[in-house]
Amino acid sequence: MSSAPSTPRSSAPLQDLLLESAEVVRAVQAGRSMTDAIAQVPPEFRPGAQALSFHAMRHLGEARALRRLLVPRDPPEALVDALLQVSLALLLPGGAADAPSYTSHTVVDQAVRAAASMRRLLPFKGLVNGCLRGFLRDPAGLLAQAAKTVEGRWNHPQWWVDKLRAAYPDAWQELLAAANVPAPLTLRVNRRRASREQVLDAFAAAGIGAEPSGAAGLALAQPRPVAQLPGFDLGWWSVQDAGAQLAAPLLGVHDGERVLDACAAPGGKTAHLLELADVALTALDADGIRLQRVRENLERLDLRRPDTVLRRADAADLEDWWDGVPYDAVLADVPCTASGIVRRHPDIRWLRRADDVARTVKLQTRIVDALWRTVAPGGRLLYVTCSIFPEENERQAAAFAARHPDVRRLEAPGQLLPVAGDTTPAAQRDGFFYALFAKLS
Ligand SMILES: C[S@@+](CC[C@H](N)C(=O)[O-])C[C@H]1O[C@@H](n2cnc3c(N)ncnc32)[C@H](O)[C@@H]1O
Repeated sequence: MSSAPSTPRSSAPLQDLLLESAEVVRAVQAGRSMTDAIAQVPPEFRPGAQALSFHAMRHLGEARALRRLLVPRDPPEALVDALLQVSLALLLPGGAADAPSYTSHTVVDQAVRAAASMRRLLPFKGLVNGCLRGFLRDPAGLLAQAAKTVEGRWNHPQWWVDKLRAAYPDAWQELLAAANVPAPLTLRVNRRRASREQVLDAFAAAGIGAEPSGAAGLALAQPRPVAQLPGFDLGWWSVQDAGAQLAAPLLGVHDGERVLDACAAPGGKTAHLLELADVALTALDADGIRLQRVRENLERLDLRRPDTVLRRADAADLEDWWDGVPYDAVLADVPCTASGIVRRHPDIRWLRRADDVARTVKLQTRIVDALWRTVAPGGRLLYVTCSIFPEENERQAAAFAARHPDVRRLEAPGQLLPVAGDTTPAAQRDGFFYALFAKLS
């Protein structure tokens, strides 16, 4: 196992971190998002458990395949299975890219102690010991066997691999490999509060390595807790992937326009729109809790104007929220499978099911068709997803244009794939899709 110099070893005992992380992995396998599951971890264990959980999610295919080889029958207790998976992931050669490394002996010892520390896991202490020691007797042979399954080879579900292979016959392997590379921390400078040079100078003065990325962003050499970075409380910047930073400029908003951000939470693009022009903006989101984050973000960035409206609503239910006055510009950053952002959310691949894609496409169609009615003649709509599945993207955009005779498609990047290969932080980007439509007058 190699060490990860950027990640300090957590002071919490590994046995506790393994148990907490096993709870997170168990929760994800029961259908809960990793973000929600990590929020339930006691604060003293959270950073350490988060690092282990991210690593486990990226290697869950291998860990599951190994567990099946070593313990062919599913353990009757899901938490034991998750503990085995987290521990096996930690024992993989190459170590954890963004979690601390431990010796094999420590991992086995601490996993066994973790099992012994809970009454309901105690009966499985011997199983944990036997499984992990079994792996260490022949790691290369077992890994070669695990790699014979698609999930064990690619650390993604079979249906996901099949979909990418069909959509990108020349790039699917690179895309799957890139999905397991931890993403850099990328920021967008709030030009109403600071210049990029000012932020870079403040970071340099604090000894934080960063370089310009895209038109208004910067990428950090090493991820760090954001609230500790210079300028956070002053609203100088927001966390936003370089691919997402393209949205607001593409919509091309101008002072005085009436703008709708139809699926706004947590507000990354809402804030960017308000940074770019003095617009009368309405931000909708169906999720009231997430909408609260839009409010908090606009407050921190000091971007809220008297004519900024935040409203919880189903964007497709025009009767409920629309006053009938058309918009010059509409941002439709629709709900999607999020298949383009698995580097940042490695649980997504395990949470989604193959039939989610068709269900999501239907929802997107409903939303974008309704939103088109709110666009003024001569106005524009930007359709955005953070997906790399064609059904949600080019196929959706082409079908939309075919359904509406008053659509003219404008120049936009289309499918942006996550950057593989080049690992410099400033070159990184998640997967996004952009289609821009103008309404004929
Ligand atoms: C891709 S996220 C938006 C990200 C956001 N634009 C940003 O840049 O921070 C999609 C959002 O759509 C919201 N959503 C889902 N269904 C919706 C609907 N029918 N109407 C409005 N919002 C919806 C979700 O709650 C989620 O916050």
